[in-house]
Amino acid sequence: MLKLPGLIDVHVHLREPGGEHKETVASGTAAALAGGVVGVLEMPNTRPPTCDAATLALKQAIHRANARCDTGLFLGADGRDLASVRVLAGQVVGLKLYLGQTFGDLIISDAGLLPPLWETWPGPGPICVHVESPQALAQALALSERYHTPLHVAHVNGRELLRLVLDAKGRGLPVTCETTPTYLWLTRDDEPRLGPFARVKPPLGSAEDLAALWQHLDDIDCLATDHAPHTREEKLSSTPPPGLPGVETLLPLMLTAVHQGRLDLRRLIALTHDNPLRIFPITPPAESWVEVDPDERYTLRGDQLLTKCGWTPFETREVVGRVLRTWLRGRLAYEAGTVLAEPGTGRDLVRRA
Ligand code: DOR
Ligand code: ZN
Repeated sequence: MLKLPGLIDVHVHLREPGGEHKETVASGTAAALAGGVVGVLEMPNTRPPTCDAATLALKQAIHRANARCDTGLFLGADGRDLASVRVLAGQVVGLKLYLGQTFGDLIISDAGLLPPLWETWPGPGPICVHVESPQALAQALALSERYHTPLHVAHVNGRELLRLVLDAKGRGLPVTCETTPTYLWLTRDDEPRLGPFARVKPPLGSAEDLAALWQHLDDIDCLATDHAPHTREEKLSSTPPPGLPGVETLLPLMLTAVHQGRLDLRRLIALTHDNPLRIFPITPPAESWVEVDPDERYTLRGDQLLTKCGWTPFETREVVGRVLRTWLRGRLAYEAGTVLAEPGTGRDLVRRA
């Protein structure tokens, strides 16, 4: 048995309010605990999106009543309400900006709206960007350089974005980034096999992209999941939404990499615990850890996961390393397939001034 610090997943979609048929705060945080995750940072593209005081207060209340692990909320913005960006900054883990179209309508449609956002955002959290093109990333980097604003680049999917991030780090810019197990374990060669269950934004890369991400795991700051549940029916429809669940499968997949000698356990802890605490203004739960069997070999199955969507792009994949128990604030929160933490157990991760 191996004991690790409870993971902090800095990129999770819990879908409440507005998408409760896909996932709820209660179901998504149960899934998190089953994955050894004790804290999740939640994205703002709910319905309505987390862009104003009333919606932020509503979501805080939903989380207070329903979260089984700790959670911290991102603020979102469409660029037209700078007052909310200024006054709500202290209550959130960061400002998430969508510079490319993804699930939902939250997007900055006009690049001219970006400079005022950088000028207005007071921190302490970073600005976190969804970017898919090198042009969009270059623009965000230039703004962060100009306004000295920490920038966190979400879900780097391959060489193009990675090269720009590494170059910016080399120039001393305040930039950090994450990748996800999706881009470390799947490529576009998996698309014929998985069909809509491989559709994600940004899209899967090539084998060379995957190799570059593995090669640079020492330069990448966080391993997050972009847990983005959609129902099986939605995925099989004529307009499948982008997004894949993942909060429960991160640890088994990455322990498999440790088992294979491709990843150092210390580095895994840095990517999933130490660096999230360095980058985001959060206080992790005390006495919270995960116990794993690093040698147990088993097969991932969607119907054994606790996410409400009930499927995984890693269906039938053999992994080595199982989450046995997760402890939250000194209490057993998950054991052997059963979540013991009740809704309302989770606290707000945001560090208050
Ligand atoms: O594929 C994605 N799905 N990418 C995102 O950035 C959003 C996510 C979602 O919310 O479903
Ligand atoms: Zn996302």
